[in-house]
Amino acid sequence: MPSILVTGGAGYIGSHTVVELFRADYKPVIIDNFSNSEKSVLKGIEAITGETISLYAGDCNDEQFVKHVFESEPEITGCIHFAAYKAVGESVEKPVQYYKNNINSLLELLSAMLKFNIKNLVFSSSCTVYGQPDDLPVTESSPVKKAESPYGNTKQICEEIIKDTVDATGKIKAVSLRYFNPVGAHPTSQIGELPIGTPNNLIPFLTQTVAGIREELIIFGDDYNTPDGTCVRDYIHVVDLAKAHVKALDYLEKEKNDSVYQVFNVGTGNGHTVLDVIKTFELATGEKVKYRIGIRRPGDIEKVWANADKIYEELNWKAERTLKQALYDAWNWQKVLKSRGK
Ligand code: UD1
Repeated sequence: MPSILVTGGAGYIGSHTVVELFRADYKPVIIDNFSNSEKSVLKGIEAITGETISLYAGDCNDEQFVKHVFESEPEITGCIHFAAYKAVGESVEKPVQYYKNNINSLLELLSAMLKFNIKNLVFSSSCTVYGQPDDLPVTESSPVKKAESPYGNTKQICEEIIKDTVDATGKIKAVSLRYFNPVGAHPTSQIGELPIGTPNNLIPFLTQTVAGIREELIIFGDDYNTPDGTCVRDYIHVVDLAKAHVKALDYLEKEKNDSVYQVFNVGTGNGHTVLDVIKTFELATGEKVKYRIGIRRPGDIEKVWANADKIYEELNWKAERTLKQALYDAWNWQKVLKSRGK
């Protein structure tokens, strides 16, 4: 059973991926500095899987710490790198912090992988690298546009660093997964998203509004060139997204070519407007969403959704859960959070 290092494994996507790794008979080893996650997440993972977690609490930017983890876990054959800051708005205010953290942690990880001869890397990237695409749905060969934020730029730079490293060394095989909009929670309601402070993203803001924590949801503009004027996104259930990481890892474990680098979109292939999301939430849960239309959010992209053919053809992965399921799961998770006083 190969061990897989999961940096940021206590985070939203990381924790769901750890569950799926156990299911696929990998042994996940988590690194997390808990800067944007909580130790309670580990209990949730253990409740779902019945497994005991291997955790190293520390920072990927710390060379000695990363070295210590690799020395202590000689069975590691691959890494999934989630650990990064992820708030677009905050990245505009604190670019140095974002570049330093997101890029350095990847560099430390790659250095350690080369040193310890670890071959396989799955990187957590984002559809944000496409900006507003000229053609939809967006494919992996669509141009990567100038990033709209330091956060987006860190994803572009990290992808380039990985490609250069693969090409130059021939010792690392890597996949970058470009996520569309991850939503939902584990159907057991043991793990889910844990936004700190006021959420920036649509679904946690929506569920907090329905739970009475927020006054109302403000839709950021209804004058876009879309079917109902609100922005269009490709919302992907976090469990489906987690499974894509396992498929990527399976592929790398089997791949004989020692210097392969592949990029895959991870989305459903369907676009939904913000109003669609609200209607689907109401249908899924029987709850009413209090909302009003506000002004556009600066930097928002009008519409983007994935062409997800490549990941289906090459990794045999496709989204299996609907938006309705994702919203139902997100609501159940919100209720658990509320019962915990969060
Ligand atoms: C963006 C990035 C994504 C990145 C994420 C990190 C794109 C296309 N996506 O997601 O790659 O990982 O940030 O945070 O660049 N909305 C409202 N009211 C709200 C909140 C959101 O109307 O209170 C709308 C937004 O205008 C948008 C949609 O809901 O149309 C989704 O927004 P959000 O959840 O913030 O994600 P993105 O901005 O798409």
